Amino acid sequence: MAPLIRLAFRLFLTLAFVIPILSAPTTGTQIILQAGQDGPAPASQRKLHGKFLHITDLHPDKHYETHSSTNSDKVCHRGYGPAGVYGAETSDCDSPLTLVNSTLSWIKENLKDSIDFVIWTGDSARHDNDEKHPRKNKDILAMNRRIAGAMVNTFSDDKGLEIPIVPTFGNNDVFPHNVLKPGPNDILRTYSDIWSDFIPATQRHSFEFGGWFYTEVVPDQLAVFSLNTMYFFDRNAAIDDCASPSEPGYKHLEWLDVQLDYMRHRGMKAILIGHVPPARTSGKTLWDETCWQKYTLWLNQYRDVVVGSMYGHMNIDHFMLQDTKEVNIAGLLGKGAKGITAGEEINATMSIQSSSDYLKELRDDWAKLPNPVILDDKGVDESGKKKHRKDKKKKKLGGKWAERYQLSLVSPSIVPNYFPTLRVVEYNITGIEDSPTWVDTMRASNDDGEVADQRLELRSEPETDFDTELDTELNAELEILKKKKGKKGKKPHKPHDPPELSIPSPPPKKNLPGPAYAPQTLTLMGYTQYFANLTYLNNDFTADQADEDNVTPAGWDAGQHKDEKPKHRKPQPREFAFEVEYDTFTDKVYKLKDLTVKSYLHLAHRIGTASKKSKALDFVDTDDEDEDNEDIEVDDNELEEIDTDEEDLDDDNESDDEYDADMKKGKKDKKKKKRKAAKKTWFHFLNHAFVSTRTKKELKKLAY
Ligand SMILES: *[C@@H]1O[C@H](CO)[C@@H](O)[C@H](O)[C@H]1NC(C)=O
Ligand SMILES: *[C@@H]1O[C@H](CO)[C@@H](O)[C@H](O)[C@H]1NC(C)=O
Ligand SMILES: *[C@@H]1O[C@H](CO)[C@@H](O)[C@H](O)[C@H]1NC(C)=O
Ligand SMILES: *[C@@H]1O[C@H](CO)[C@@H](O)[C@H](O)[C@H]1NC(C)=O
Repeated sequence: MAPLIRLAFRLFLTLAFVIPILSAPTTGTQIILQAGQDGPAPASQRKLHGKFLHITDLHPDKHYETHSSTNSDKVCHRGYGPAGVYGAETSDCDSPLTLVNSTLSWIKENLKDSIDFVIWTGDSARHDNDEKHPRKNKDILAMNRRIAGAMVNTFSDDKGLEIPIVPTFGNNDVFPHNVLKPGPNDILRTYSDIWSDFIPATQRHSFEFGGWFYTEVVPDQLAVFSLNTMYFFDRNAAIDDCASPSEPGYKHLEWLDVQLDYMRHRGMKAILIGHVPPARTSGKTLWDETCWQKYTLWLNQYRDVVVGSMYGHMNIDHFMLQDTKEVNIAGLLGKGAKGITAGEEINATMSIQSSSDYLKELRDDWAKLPNPVILDDKGVDESGKKKHRKDKKKKKLGGKWAERYQLSLVSPSIVPNYFPTLRVVEYNITGIEDSPTWVDTMRASNDDGEVADQRLELRSEPETDFDTELDTELNAELEILKKKKGKKGKKPHKPHDPPELSIPSPPPKKNLPGPAYAPQTLTLMGYTQYFANLTYLNNDFTADQADEDNVTPAGWDAGQHKDEKPKHRKPQPREFAFEVEYDTFTDKVYKLKDLTVKSYLHLAHRIGTASKKSKALDFVDTDDEDEDNEDIEVDDNELEEIDTDEEDLDDDNESDDEYDADMKKGKKDKKKKKRKAAKKTWFHFLNHAFVSTRTKKELKKLAY
């Protein structure tokens, strides 16, 4: 079954690339002729900048009315109230078209000329939150068409699109929301048309079949894979799981395997994007568990190819780590698949209270993470500083590069549940600075033949030189299962047979560590988070009014101005602009050297230390039982201290002398200091999660 599918995909791949060669010559020849007349080969149309934009969850709402009410029965569609010209910050209302337009205009002015591509992770329609105006399929599609057109305008010059845009579906881009049937279907065909400027011609068939595709955003170097997470999403009532071969999620992962293998053989790397992230805390989940398991396994096998993964949907700024140790191959292969436990589903729109509950769960899960500071035999870490304890961590981490873990970055939204926000990510382009860009190949596609030949290369045989313990374990498990299956003999496939599992080949040793793990060309180096301060820009309220304590416990959030009246009857908005909220290059609390898994593991570990469940402080005074049970509560004075204390509190930056002094002074001080640093990091993370919309008082209420 699985080899057959693989063969079919291979055939499909071949056909997909042959067709365009057959139809291309006319335009190709014309361009060659033109180039010939003007002299030598045309110069590159555009240089790489090593930056790209992540924009997500626009949620434009054509019913939005300025100065309408943000209450749950009015939803910014009617009544009189605080809804500003650019949107009702901190409320559950959707975006006015003015916000979407102003955002795109600002991007065109300020970002367009310094980025290489755009990832756009879905939800370009309003929520179904107004009984008086229920959503209709045709409106959702019309709005998506309109926004797709606006995206093309934003990133075009007079000859057309200048940089590639890679879109993906959101759960609100379909009707009814959350439900997408297996393809091919009308919805996928319609989006194939709406996104005709974005989906490469060679991928259109594949898109109409499953809603997935990839674009070579830096030709022959880097591809962005648009995953259709609707087929992984627990809430999609039209699908079951990723374990049965008839399921679209199963086929999606088969496709991903074939395509990532193809990237590997071309020496290319890939960024994966999707709408619904693989969120999974000990109690909550967004994906079907079998999809999560397979995805995590796939990413482990392709850790030489995948540069990073980026998602939207959740509207809060955060990240998550997938732990390969949680993959249960036996469960995936057999009857166990259904029995793999999954947590409570995370709701589509979470209140600030449930968002912070979710973040607290993440923090508590992170409390169990090992500290990725690796020490050598002499107890010296990478920066050359001597530490006074033995390193037992390396094994726990899955090797020097922490390959046991994978990172998913979640960018917050344009829809102002907090403030509208954008992310510009920087990646390493050393050695590929002068490589032809997407627009070069689009506007001079005369080398189709050559490209196509490379594409006909077939899948190689699996590598057998397993690099890490992890690969060896997985492989051993797989061999045992294969043998068991073999004994049963070849019977005709029955509906109740265990699902098929064909595991992707592990990475060739020479390709490791990959760009997500060690700094190299295409490694993500950092990002800048921009936000638009709507309180300032709408100019309807004074800062004092906005400062009131306002945390709605659950349900509809009418926002921080809910019972207030705008100060001007006639709106007097300021000129729209985004400003920098923070960037990971200079953020003194995050201290992210780059966006590699290990850097994030270090951050997650430090945030986790603020959890009551953390064992990280134990090594300091394991002989002091009372201290271990001490409550990690924060009081007002301490919070002030955390907030105003600019000194570097993290003891990882300590010198030997300081360390020795600490040892003498007693372990108590050190523990206190470390706990304080952890709280500061957690607080900082929470503030960013809510895009700096919350006052200290509000954050304090949410943090503990
Ligand atoms: C925003 O609206 C203005 C006026 O309607 C229009 O000129 C402009 O092109 C729009 N901007 C974008 C990015 O669509
Ligand atoms: C989802 O919503 C339901 C009903 O509103 C609520 O009981 C549940 O706790 C919510 N789940 C989360 C994770 O917020
Ligand atoms: C960027 O990649 C190059 C080539 O692999 C590498 O030498 C360099 O250290 C990387 N730069 C950073 C800042 O990581
Ligand atoms: C947003 O603007 C308001 C009003 O000018 C101001 O009080 C507030 O501090 C600003 N918020 C941020 C995060 O800059």
